[in-house]
Amino acid sequence: MASSMLVKVTCLALICLVLNIPLANAALSCGQIQLTVAPCLGYLRNPGPSVPAPCCNGLRNLNNQAKSTPDRRSGCRCLKSTIFSLPGINLSALASTPTKCGINLPYKISPSINCNTYFSDHK
Ligand SMILES: *[C@@H]1O[C@H](CO)[C@@H](O)[C@H](O)[C@H]1NC(C)=O
Repeated sequence: MASSMLVKVTCLALICLVLNIPLANAALSCGQIQLTVAPCLGYLRNPGPSVPAPCCNGLRNLNNQAKSTPDRRSGCRCLKSTIFSLPGINLSALASTPTKCGINLPYKISPSINCNTYFSDHK
């Protein structure tokens, strides 16, 4: 069970590497972002009492690296298309993960998030 999860996460990461399609004008490719959040997937499927440290570290790096509006928008789109296409993600665990890691995201990750309105250029 645990090892099949590892295989799935690894496969996902490999697919991302192979399909590494850079987003226009983005400093972070979606493949990089997916690799960064890969340690979160086990927790998101089967939440434990605390978020694993590699997951928090990944989110923190992501948040620090995505500074500009286009970066944040494309990161948002990438996470949205990645996470909500995976089966068995616990949405309430997902929504509370950044807070549990001590990260203040300006938005809540949810299936209905609109990546364009959350990151307006006029701020
Ligand atoms: C999501 O995880 C929480 C614990 O963080 C749990 O109480 C809840 O039942 C889970 N929901 C689903 C749909 O699995």
